[in-house]
Amino acid sequence: MKNIVLIGFMGSGKTEIGKRLADKLGYTFMDTDSIIEKKIGKSISGIFQEDGEEHFRGLEAGVVKELSGIRRCVISTGGGMVINRENILNLKQDGLMIWLKTSPETIYERVKSEHHRPLLGVKDPLQEINKLLGLREPLYAEADITIETDGLDIEKIVGMIVDAYSKF
Ligand code: S3P
Repeated sequence: MKNIVLIGFMGSGKTEIGKRLADKLGYTFMDTDSIIEKKIGKSISGIFQEDGEEHFRGLEAGVVKELSGIRRCVISTGGGMVINRENILNLKQDGLMIWLKTSPETIYERVKSEHHRPLLGVKDPLQEINKLLGLREPLYAEADITIETDGLDIEKIVGMIVDAYSKF
């Protein structure tokens, strides 16, 4: 069986859903942002601030390559992972890719009181979310399966993913 790879915008629930899913399947949970933070010894915000976004994207692509060949894992990815199409192709080699599609309004409600996402630390986060989503949606749409998450609770979403996975 392939791994399960969760993609989607910041605040779409990838980490929380990924952990529940891994528990349910008895798989190992991996989160690309956490792997980078551990490896570099800095928070994602710290990396953006001190080294810049481009450097972060290089680290992200490196982690994707390192994950090649692993099995029985649920991999949660950073929201911008898809910017580099090579990441999509690499992750799809060993994984069923699932897009957790969430509306800009729901994303905004979830992230507005949080401060650890460097790209949303701007004057008008909703406008930024709309702008980035516009650029990224065609890339997220390359996933094997899309799940519209608005209004669904975590258990329901996890159940839908398990169903889809068992049919593959
Ligand atoms: C980013 C999303 C973040 C993190 C970084 C950049 C993005 O991950 O990788 O802040 O470009 O959308 P989450 O989607 O887990 O918040």
